Amino acid sequence: MERGRGRCGSCRLLAVAAAAVTVAAAMAAAGVEARLSPDHYRTTCPGVESIVRSVVARKVRETFVTVPATLRLFFHDCFVEVSDIDLLFRLDALDSSSGPHWTVELGRLDGLVSKAGSVAGRLPGPDMQVKELVAMFGKNDLTLLDMVALSGAHTVGFAHCTRFTGRLYRRGGVDPSYNPAYAQQLMAACPRDVGPTIAVDMDPTTPSSFDNTYYANLAGGLGLFTSDQALYADGASRPAVAGFAKNQTRFFEAFMDAMVKLGRVGVKAGRHGEIRRDCTAFNT
Ligand code: HEM
Repeated sequence: MERGRGRCGSCRLLAVAAAAVTVAAAMAAAGVEARLSPDHYRTTCPGVESIVRSVVARKVRETFVTVPATLRLFFHDCFVEVSDIDLLFRLDALDSSSGPHWTVELGRLDGLVSKAGSVAGRLPGPDMQVKELVAMFGKNDLTLLDMVALSGAHTVGFAHCTRFTGRLYRRGGVDPSYNPAYAQQLMAACPRDVGPTIAVDMDPTTPSSFDNTYYANLAGGLGLFTSDQALYADGASRPAVAGFAKNQTRFFEAFMDAMVKLGRVGVKAGRHGEIRRDCTAFNT
């Protein structure tokens, strides 16, 4: 269960996305329309999806962590900024896993602002309760149901011990909402003096499968973060958790709907964006 991981796995992934930068350049001819549509590049760059798909498929074959890492980046970028090349890359990663599949809407521009400061207060934290999560997702036009469905992304991937050890080593003892055996397992993987690079699976039962086990886990006290377990503890979100635990198809449908909505968050158009020639820098 315990794994050592560099803090910056996502950055390496972005380097791969940058390899697809020629695609972004081809997209430049597409102009600056505000409307999103699945066939946005039909005439300007007809091969874009297959180009991105082959890069991503190769990356996923090399390492499964491509799937969770890109999913998480997609979420963060939508709450902060996202462009088409990132979006295609990221959603193809999920497509290459056993998870749900859907049509991606295209037509986004890259942002003209990129500041660490713009992230502060815009992303949810692992210690948040449902009320705070609902408020944060609500600011991005996402409902409580969307939030519960999207949290199901925690069915894959890893979390660094430092993000949840506060629940294990509290003054009054282990957080009682943890299943005691799970808490023991986590304490063995993440001792008090654990280093910052040690990480554990977020879904302790089926870590490499994109499925609805995450929700059944919550009912058994296997939610890794306070923000996960709170979805079960809070009466407002519990019915959605129970529904998704019972019916994977319902989870996949709600997840796809919410991902499409997430992809519409903060879409840039006209003078508010550009299509970067180099993904890592503004054009001017
Ligand atoms: C509901 C509020 C959320 C909170 C508080 C939250 C928090 C976190 C935290 C703290 C981590 C561990 C990061 C680390 O230690 O490196 C994580 C990982 C992850 N999150 Fe979330 N997250 C939330 C929602 C989402 C959403 C909406 C998605 C995607 C749709 C998502 C996808 C992921 C994935 C896939 C990982 C694993 C990343 C990896 O293995 O590289 N999360 N999340």
